[in-house]
Amino acid sequence: MTGKLYCIGVGPGDPELITVKALKALEQSRVIFIPSPGPTSKKLALQIVENALKERGGIGSKLVVELHFPMTRDQEALKRAWRENAQKIAQSVLKGETCCYVVLGDPLLYSTFGHIHTILREYGVEAEFIPGVSSITACPAKVGLILAEERDTIVITPAENLDVIKKCASIAKTMILIKGSVNLDSVIDTIKQAGVSENTRVLYVRRCTIEGEKYVQTTISNWEKGVIEEDYFSMLVVGGALD
Ligand SMILES: C[S@@+](CC[C@H](N)C(=O)[O-])C[C@H]1O[C@@H](n2cnc3c(N)ncnc32)[C@H](O)[C@@H]1O
Repeated sequence: MTGKLYCIGVGPGDPELITVKALKALEQSRVIFIPSPGPTSKKLALQIVENALKERGGIGSKLVVELHFPMTRDQEALKRAWRENAQKIAQSVLKGETCCYVVLGDPLLYSTFGHIHTILREYGVEAEFIPGVSSITACPAKVGLILAEERDTIVITPAENLDVIKKCASIAKTMILIKGSVNLDSVIDTIKQAGVSENTRVLYVRRCTIEGEKYVQTTISNWEKGVIEEDYFSMLVVGGALD
């Protein structure tokens, strides 16, 4: 491998929540790969990068490459996209380019880079990961909700996994339910059915630190159906330490 590949997390949206190390990687890179799993994610990642580079020579001389990821559950279509995207990245790195793959939040948590990483290894390309501020901590930080203390257990799962939520409700001090564009009302119903106290705190955060931000703090018993505006960039945090 002759070039260099960074996989950087750029935080949840607030341009001030990018790390100094990620900034340096962006500055050093000539090729910037922006995944586009959806139009909002791509636009947001690009905005953060443009903003970060504004006082560091600008994005002008860099090559920005958009990588398309279809929003589908069709495994064959997904595998094709992972392979094609990994190939594009490998070609650049093996040519000797310094490259950056940009991920919202943190790259180790539910990012588009996971499968790409495995395929890149077949080409002998290893990425250097630069962690970012994840939405998983940025959302509860909005209201100072402590996620865990001492021997507490946290569960992080997509909100659509109602069976997991039901199983874990009694053991987790805090549950973080991401990919909240599914029906969050049925998540609350599932938690109620699992026998969790009606006084348990619920925090709903939508578009944390980005345009259209909204958060609602309530309890399971006071959860009002339809109070939320469902959005891909949203999550529920149920419970919390030190209540
Ligand atoms: C594919 S996961 C990516 C997580 C990301 N790697 C991270 O560390 O934040 C996308 C989910 O993360 C959550 N998320 C990401 N950014 C968010 C934001 N700014 N506000 C609220 N939730 C966010 C949402 O639940 C969204 O559906």
